[in-house]
Amino acid sequence: MPKKAVTMMLAAGLVLSSAPTATFADPPAPNEMADHAFDNKFIKKISADRLFNRVDLLSKSPREAGTQGEYDAVDYIKAEFESYGYETELQPFTFQAWDGGNPSITINNIDFSGNVHTFTRSVNATVEAPLEYVGLASSEDVTDAVDGKIALIERGEISFYDKVQNVLDKGAVGVIMFNREGAEGNDFGYTYSGQDIPAVAIDREAGLSLVDQLQSKEVIAEVSVQDAGPIDKTSYNVIATTKPHKNKDNGQIITVGAHHDSVADGPGANDDASGVSGVLELAKIMAKTPTDTELRFMTFGAEEKGLVGSYHYASTLTEDEVSRTVAHFQMDMIGSRDSGDLIMFTPDGEKNLVTDLGASAGARVAEVVEYGQLGRSDHVPFFERGIPAALFIHAPLEPWYHSPQDTLDKISKEKLKETTEIVGAAVYQLARPETPALENSRVAPGPVHYEFDDRPL
Ligand code: BES
Ligand code: ZN
Repeated sequence: MPKKAVTMMLAAGLVLSSAPTATFADPPAPNEMADHAFDNKFIKKISADRLFNRVDLLSKSPREAGTQGEYDAVDYIKAEFESYGYETELQPFTFQAWDGGNPSITINNIDFSGNVHTFTRSVNATVEAPLEYVGLASSEDVTDAVDGKIALIERGEISFYDKVQNVLDKGAVGVIMFNREGAEGNDFGYTYSGQDIPAVAIDREAGLSLVDQLQSKEVIAEVSVQDAGPIDKTSYNVIATTKPHKNKDNGQIITVGAHHDSVADGPGANDDASGVSGVLELAKIMAKTPTDTELRFMTFGAEEKGLVGSYHYASTLTEDEVSRTVAHFQMDMIGSRDSGDLIMFTPDGEKNLVTDLGASAGARVAEVVEYGQLGRSDHVPFFERGIPAALFIHAPLEPWYHSPQDTLDKISKEKLKETTEIVGAAVYQLARPETPALENSRVAPGPVHYEFDDRPL
């Protein structure tokens, strides 16, 4: 029976996709007015303050997968879900990380006292050679003078790949890179396959002091990277499940997700503490709302390492679960003050049940939401298993994306609230007990016309 219900639901979704005429500007049909009443009661429970406060709590420091920052976030999210009354599972998985081993530097035979970070990917080696300062290491900056030497490079303007390649092409045997203006620490850098020289990063102050020394004398440096290599690290998905009302179970499952990990050196207020807060808020208000559908609220780990958590979760779904999962909603970067409009992205650029419901919910809550084509987040593994899925995100992106400046002060309470309302209204449309909604015209979402948007991100 569940299988049949899913098929009918998807068929109704397709009908919505091809309905070309009704627009937001049209007078609401009677069934849409009924929708408004349902939505209003439900989405009024969404609190902008709660949404904002959770982003505040989560974005105090980075949550890179496999670090204590992630584990603290996981504990917090699990405790929140449980406080709303959910049975909550931590789903561990491993991913491959790079361990920088024991890097060290000596300068004129004296041990360098600052922190050293390895950013070489595939070499353990020790080199000793004169140090040569090459500025930002653009192709104009780098001359044959670096041949046989260790290149001292300032971070910024061009990619790590180009910097390392430019000095390698001129015969450098090692790299010391220091941080760019205004940036703290030394946890940065990346070499690519074929760039097999020892490369390490130091902070800006130490780098500038070396530049200074080089102005008056020759400096002999030794750069050593030992015991570096791939290691397995553990990350977690956090999954809260609600069971439908006993006598009204329609066999269907809806999943709502965000990723709780951030990049290494950013607090990820928008990417993606915002989405996590949205997932928690919907979980909180759905906990007290009767449904006929199983809801699974989840936050993924290691998204920034290659969608590892969501691929893991999707791989654990049985064929039966896949066939019963009617929709996956992914909230990623839903609260930036400085980004553009809300867009729903699908990996293949086609509409599906999720975008139909999102566009229609948008029209009821604020305005019609357009759709576009993009992967790059946790909707992809769901899509690849054949589950209708979409990413809810604002485009174009804010300038703080993946930077240490992705902080709470850039978060708009209004954007957080409106996006959560739209996703919530769409989820509620499917989950409320008057459903299977799409088999019943009285509660079917009013079809809206919504368009493909191919703006650059
Ligand atoms: N939140 C972003 C997704 C994103 C970024 C969407 C930019 C649209 C534009 C996500 O956390 C991310 O950064 N994803 C990675 C991809 C992943 C496979 C490592 C990315 O886009 O680089
Ligand atoms: Zn993200």
